[in-house]
Amino acid sequence: MSDAEELELTQFIYVSAATHLMSNQELTTLLTQARQKNSECGISGLLVYSNGSFIQVLEGPKEALESTYARIQRDPRHHHCQVLLHEPVTARLFEGWYMGFESISSQQLQDLSGSIDFFGDCPIPERGAAAFRLLASFRTTHDRQCA
Ligand SMILES: Cc1cc2nc3c(=O)[nH]c(=O)nc-3n(C[C@H](O)[C@H](O)[C@H](O)COP(=O)(O)O)c2cc1C
Repeated sequence: MSDAEELELTQFIYVSAATHLMSNQELTTLLTQARQKNSECGISGLLVYSNGSFIQVLEGPKEALESTYARIQRDPRHHHCQVLLHEPVTARLFEGWYMGFESISSQQLQDLSGSIDFFGDCPIPERGAAAFRLLASFRTTHDRQCA
């Protein structure tokens, strides 16, 4: 990546609702597509799936990230996309993860996120900070699942 692209490094977190409960096969198909594209576009991150909900962090050069999110938003496999965090960063948290993945139960999600409901009424900055903590916690515990 060039210095100019590094300067534009952006991190983005959104939540969304799957249009139906996803099977393992459907999640595998989704991840195969995502990892292929992400490795081409320099996008890294982590996708968490829990009982019909998605929480995803994407990081990469601003332009590539915006076009990736535009594609993701149009995807009929989910809806109600809500951006919780969008900011420039100086380094990637998920360097080399062309899309890490975790599937967790609702109970695990609740245990890991404390009292925060990512889809609830609490202010977006609070939900964004909690989503960041949740996603970052997998950074240390998670085996790399790179493309
Ligand atoms: C929850 C979710 C997460 C996704 N994550 C990514 C991703 O990280 N990168 C990506 O390129 N596509 C991702 N996709 C798939 C895109 O929506 C899209 O299907 C794919 O990029 C192919 O787009 P195209 O058919 O316009 O080429 C995701 C889809 C969903 C539903």
